[in-house]
This record gives sequence, structure tokens and C-alpha cells, in this order.
Amino acid sequence: MKAVIATVLAAATLVRAQVATTSEPSVSDINKAAATTLPESPTSNVQGVAFSRFYQVWLENIDYEDAAADSNMQWLASQGILLTNFYALTHPSEPNYCAAAGGDTFGMDNDNFNQIPANVSTVADLLDTKGISWSEYQEHSPYPGFQGFNYSNQKTFANDYVRKHNPLVLYDSVVQNETRARQIKNFTEFEHDLSDKKLPQWAFITPNMTNDAHDTNITFAAKWERSWMSSLLKNDYFMNDSLILLTFDEDKTYSKTNRIFSVLVGGAIPDNLKGTKDDTFYTHYSSIASVSANWGLPSLGRWDCGANIFEIVSNKTGYANYDVNITNLRLNETYPGPESAGELSKYSPTWPVPLTDGKCSAGNGILDIVKKTYSGKTATYNYTSPYPWDAKADYNTKVTITRKLNSTRTSSSAAGTSTTGAAAAVNVSGFTVVTGALVALFASLL
Ligand SMILES: *[C@@H]1O[C@H](CO)[C@@H](O)[C@H](O)[C@H]1NC(C)=O
Ligand SMILES: *[C@@H]1O[C@H](CO)[C@@H](O)[C@H](O)[C@H]1NC(C)=O
Ligand SMILES: *[C@@H]1O[C@H](CO)[C@@H](O)[C@H](O)[C@H]1NC(C)=O
Ligand SMILES: *[C@@H]1O[C@H](CO)[C@@H](O)[C@H](O)[C@H]1NC(C)=O
Ligand SMILES: *[C@@H]1O[C@H](CO)[C@@H](O)[C@H](O)[C@H]1NC(C)=O
Ligand SMILES: *[C@@H]1O[C@H](CO)[C@@H](O)[C@H](O)[C@H]1NC(C)=O
Ligand SMILES: *[C@@H]1O[C@H](CO)[C@@H](O)[C@H](O)[C@H]1NC(C)=O
Ligand SMILES: *[C@@H]1O[C@H](CO)[C@@H](O)[C@H](O)[C@H]1NC(C)=O
Ligand SMILES: *[C@@H]1O[C@H](CO)[C@@H](O)[C@H](O)[C@H]1NC(C)=O
Ligand SMILES: *[C@@H]1O[C@H](CO)[C@@H](O)[C@H](O)[C@H]1NC(C)=O
Ligand SMILES: *[C@@H]1O[C@H](CO)[C@@H](O)[C@H](O)[C@H]1NC(C)=O
Ligand SMILES: *[C@@H]1O[C@H](CO)[C@@H](O)[C@H](O)[C@H]1NC(C)=O
Repeated sequence: MKAVIATVLAAATLVRAQVATTSEPSVSDINKAAATTLPESPTSNVQGVAFSRFYQVWLENIDYEDAAADSNMQWLASQGILLTNFYALTHPSEPNYCAAAGGDTFGMDNDNFNQIPANVSTVADLLDTKGISWSEYQEHSPYPGFQGFNYSNQKTFANDYVRKHNPLVLYDSVVQNETRARQIKNFTEFEHDLSDKKLPQWAFITPNMTNDAHDTNITFAAKWERSWMSSLLKNDYFMNDSLILLTFDEDKTYSKTNRIFSVLVGGAIPDNLKGTKDDTFYTHYSSIASVSANWGLPSLGRWDCGANIFEIVSNKTGYANYDVNITNLRLNETYPGPESAGELSKYSPTWPVPLTDGKCSAGNGILDIVKKTYSGKTATYNYTSPYPWDAKADYNTKVTITRKLNSTRTSSSAAGTSTTGAAAAVNVSGFTVVTGALVALFASLL
């Protein structure tokens, strides 16, 4: 087992150096590891203010309007709360998955074999502070903790499991711990954990490249998702006090705003809110912030710090979210960083320093290990903002926000004071339409 991981890591380092080529452990090594690697299924029962279980299921690359037009998506929305103002953070896929676990894209603008250094913490560390059990379920991952770049259908060699859609596997702080790695399992293990009543309290769920729309389309994926969720929505054990976020990694059309169709379902949603809409501004960072607010957990001190909190939680904690005027907001690209391959952002060798001292939306300070690791260093960005921005790169510097009153239904003009993210202002007006050829080029990179 250790030897296999060492081989994979060696291959990984090689891949990283070469950038964007794939190198796989041999199928015989995979089979050997699969025969001996046992899944880890931790359980716990820590009560939260709004839910006791949070899962997210991500589909791929669909514009908001296209998902909204699908009848199975409409059915799913009727079972819960439709989040009409939820945004992915950049393109292509991997940086979005990365951000949902660690609170930053680190400038990532590619789907390469990226590895985030061990001194970067994730939502797993937040959950571990209170012993809240977590797992991932990655469809057709061949064995728990598999670190290869992909595992294809072994008959057709069509795309099946891919590492770029696996958030926690990107982080050395997760995979360097053998126990944690074995909490990254596949759908077969989900069925086992469900029937054994050993489901964790937090989970990230990734359907394979067929079911998640990546290699199919919204009709296919929405039908899959409805059918997969339907039996769970009738399962008392699964439903008990649970909140499930059904969303997408990003939209398809890179010139658009990256708004993604997102629905909250589950037993934690009161009957009177089923079939309603919540128009609060959210991003993938909101899922970390909402989990922290729900369970009284600290922040990573990255973009989860200032992120808006799902109303189902913020209504209970009394946090007033921000209205974000999206006119000048660009979440279809990211800022420079060490994980940039020069595709959509610029390479910069410096790993961003998180906030170690400050007030975050969840209200529980910053994670101890983050404070210790980065003590005395100045945060790279203003992480208390509800959207990512970077003054140095002139990225999202002209966005305005307004603090909401408690009710989301409050109009922004009636709400508190208005601030801009930064003093430096650029003339970014409206949206430029990218030519079809360019869009197709970017789409092919996903
Ligand atoms: C899922 O993982 C288990 C080990 O946990 C392995 O035995 C099984 O073959 C995997 N299933 C699929 C469909 O890949
Ligand atoms: C990974 O994908 C490549 C390219 O499609 C394929 O040749 C290889 O067999 C796949 N690896 C595994 C283990 O499925
Ligand atoms: C993806 O998983 C489904 C089962 O959920 C399976 O039918 C399909 O063949 C898988 N895709 C590939 C390419 O193997
Ligand atoms: C590995 O992770 C487990 C589960 O999160 C934890 O209990 C253990 O302390 C970790 N081990 C090390 C060496 O960090
Ligand atoms: C959607 O994908 C499915 C499966 O790949 C295919 O059968 C169907 O024709 C596609 N529909 C459209 C509108 O492209
Ligand atoms: C439902 O969840 C609550 C909160 O986690 C827990 O206390 C209770 O035991 C659960 N009930 C059942 C029937 O599982
Ligand atoms: C939150 O509170 C507002 C104002 O009372 C209400 O309109 C809204 O439905 C609540 N939302 C949730 C998810 O509880
Ligand atoms: C907002 O919610 C908090 C906590 O529920 C409450 O104390 C406060 O009065 C509310 N403020 C407004 C303006 O409604
Ligand atoms: C959003 O910002 C734009 C550009 O500054 C401005 O024209 C528009 O009025 C603002 N919208 C609202 C609702 O404040
Ligand atoms: C974190 O790790 C990165 C990569 O090894 C390194 O460049 C950086 O200096 C480290 N940061 C701290 C605060 O140790
Ligand atoms: C940081 O962001 C917050 C929230 O957007 C804002 O109130 C504050 O003024 C910003 N601080 C700086 C130094 O720009
Ligand atoms: C992002 O959106 C802006 C505004 O629509 C556009 O100018 C830019 O080209 C887009 N970036 C990409 C990578 O498509």
C-alpha cells in the first residue's frame, strides 16, 4: 500500500513537472491496492444549528438557464430551495473543486495534476476540530484513497473517474495521512455506508464523467440526479436533519457570469420553504462558511472567511449577508498564483498567506493551525470580502456590496452602507462577448 502510494506520488511529481500530461499507476498496481485497501467510514453525531449532515453533489459545465429549463432539475428544485444567485469561481473544473475544499483557487487555471502543499488546511481540518465525520464519494474510484490521475472504464476506456473532480485528493494535508485518504471512497461504499447506517456528517459526492453531464448533457445528468436523489429523499435515515446542495462546478459559456443552478434539499428544510427561492449571493466558498456557521467551527482564513452563509443557517446565527452587485464581477477567471499554468491567469510563485486574525462570517475566529503556521505574516488578500478580489492584479476591484438586513427579501436600496472592494477603480463596463471559436476552445479545455 505505502509502496503504491509512493509510486503514485513519484509519478505525480513527474507529471507536475511536465504539466498536463498523464501518467498512471499500472492497472495491476491498482488492482493490487484495491484488493487490500480498506475504506474508512467514521461516524459522529454533532448537532448543528440548522442541520446535522451536509452533502454536496456536483454536476459539470451547464449554464444556469439550461439547467433551469430541464424538467428534472425543476422537479429537484420543487423538493427544496432554489438558490438563484449562486456562482462558481473560475474556469476550468479543477480550481472550483479545489476552492470548495481549501477556500482558494491559488491561481489555478487548469486541470493538471496539481498538489496543494501540506501547510494549506481544508474543510476537513475544520470538521476535525469537533470530530465531525467526513468522507468523499467519487463514483468508480477504484479503491479508497486512489491518487491516480484517472480511472477509465476498463472496457471502453471512456472517461469515468477523474482526479480533477476530487477536491480533497488535491491537498497533501489530506492524502499524506493514510487514514484520511481512505475516507475518499466510491459509490459502492456510499451504498454500504447508507445500508450500514454509517454515513458521515459531511460529504462531497462526484458522479462519474457520464452521469455528471461532462461527457453527456443536462438532460442525461438531470435524469440521473433525479433518479439517484429520489430514493434518498424517501430514506428516513438519510433525510434526518440533512442538507444536500445539488450544484455544478461551473457554467459552460466562459463569457457568462458563471452563475450555476443550485438547489438545497433534505430533511433540514422546513416544509413551508419547499419550492421557494433564495436570491442571496453565494459562491462555492459559501459551502465552507455555512458548514462553519452551522457547527460553530473556525474559518480557514481564506475566501471562506467573508463568504455569505446559506440563509437557512444565517437566519439562525443572525449573520447579515451581503448583496453583491455583479455588474463588474468577473468570476469566469482567477488572479495570479502558484497553480497557474498561464492559461487563464498569470503564474506567481508565492503561496497566498491566509488571514490569521479577523472577523469571519461564521463568527468563530480562525483555525488554530492556520494561526500558528502563518503567525506574523500579512494576509495576501482581503479575505473578509464576500467575493474574491485582488488589488494587485486589478481583479474584481470595482465591485460594490451592500450589507443586507436580516431578511433576504430586503431590497438593497433600503439596506445599510455601500462599499467598494478597493480604492483602485478600472473601467470594466458590461460584458464582452467572446467569439464562438474562443468559447469552443475554452470548452475543450474543461
Ligand atoms: C469501489 O471501491 C471498493 C473498495 O472500497 C472496490 O472493491 C470496488 O471495486 C470499487 N467499485 C467500483 C465500481 O469501482
Ligand atoms: C487514464 O486515461 C488514459 C487516457 O484516456 C488511458 O489511456 C488510461 O488507461 C487511463 N488509466 C486508467 C487506469 O484507467
Ligand atoms: C458511469 O457510471 C454509470 C453508473 O452510474 C455507468 O452506467 C457508466 O457506464 C459509467 N461511465 C463509464 C464511462 O464507465
Ligand atoms: C490522520 O487523520 C486522522 C483522522 O483525521 C487523525 O485522527 C490522525 O491524528 C491523523 N494523523 C496524523 C499523523 O496527522
Ligand atoms: C444527451 O445525452 C444522451 C446520452 O449521451 C443522448 O442520448 C442524447 O441524445 C443527448 N441529448 C441531446 C439533446 O444532445
Ligand atoms: C436524527 O438526527 C438527530 C440529530 O443528529 C439525532 O439526534 C437523532 O438521533 C436522529 N434520529 C434518528 C432516528 O436517527
Ligand atoms: C430567513 O428569514 C427570512 C426573513 O424572515 C425569511 O423570509 C426566509 O424565508 C428565511 N429563510 C430560511 C431559509 O429560513
Ligand atoms: C438580526 O438577527 C439577529 C439575531 O436573530 C437579531 O438579534 C437582530 O435584531 C436582527 N436584526 C434585524 C435588523 O432584524
Ligand atoms: C450595480 O452597479 C452598476 C455599475 O456601477 C450600476 O450601474 C447599477 O445601478 C448597480 N445596481 C444596483 C442595483 O445598485
Ligand atoms: C507553505 O508551503 C509552500 C510550499 O512548500 C512554501 O512555499 C511556503 O513558504 C510555506 N508557507 C509557510 C508559511 O510555511
Ligand atoms: C475588506 O473587505 C471588507 C468587506 O468587503 C470591507 O468592508 C473592507 O473595507 C475591506 N478592507 C480593505 C482594507 O479594503
Ligand atoms: C470573462 O468575462 C469577461 C466579461 O464578460 C470577458 O471579457 C472575458 O473574456 C471572460 N473571460 C473568459 C476566460 O472567457
